[in-house]
Amino acid sequence: MAEKKFITDREQLEKLAPMLKAPIKRQVFVCTGKSCSQVGGQEVMAEFGRILQEKGIRQGKDSKGRNPLGEILLTECGSIGFCTIGTAVMVYPDGILYGQVMPEDVPEIIEKHIEKGETVERLALMKLPV
Ligand code: FES
Repeated sequence: MAEKKFITDREQLEKLAPMLKAPIKRQVFVCTGKSCSQVGGQEVMAEFGRILQEKGIRQGKDSKGRNPLGEILLTECGSIGFCTIGTAVMVYPDGILYGQVMPEDVPEIIEKHIEKGETVERLALMKLPV
């Protein structure tokens, strides 16, 4: 394995990873692991992507239709532990874990939680200490 150079220069880091300059307020993880995929994980992920991009708040590359200075990071992830009651969605820094999320729940999660900071209680399974 080639030796990896540890980069300390902030400007260089921001050039390599432009998201470091974005005013990120929340990160949303959507599980598309094996079990969640069987109950719509990919569709939930796609719906988050579609709405966040429509609103212009999804951080990412212009070339992908996202906003380099967007406030929301959307991250697809593997299993996060409650596979039998997916689709699992985590929202940080609030530490809220949602279960049984369906594509039709996504607009409510975005409007209430992502934009206003209010937990969608009917889907919330856990609140981690923050
Ligand atoms: S596969 Fe999604 S929580 Fe395990």
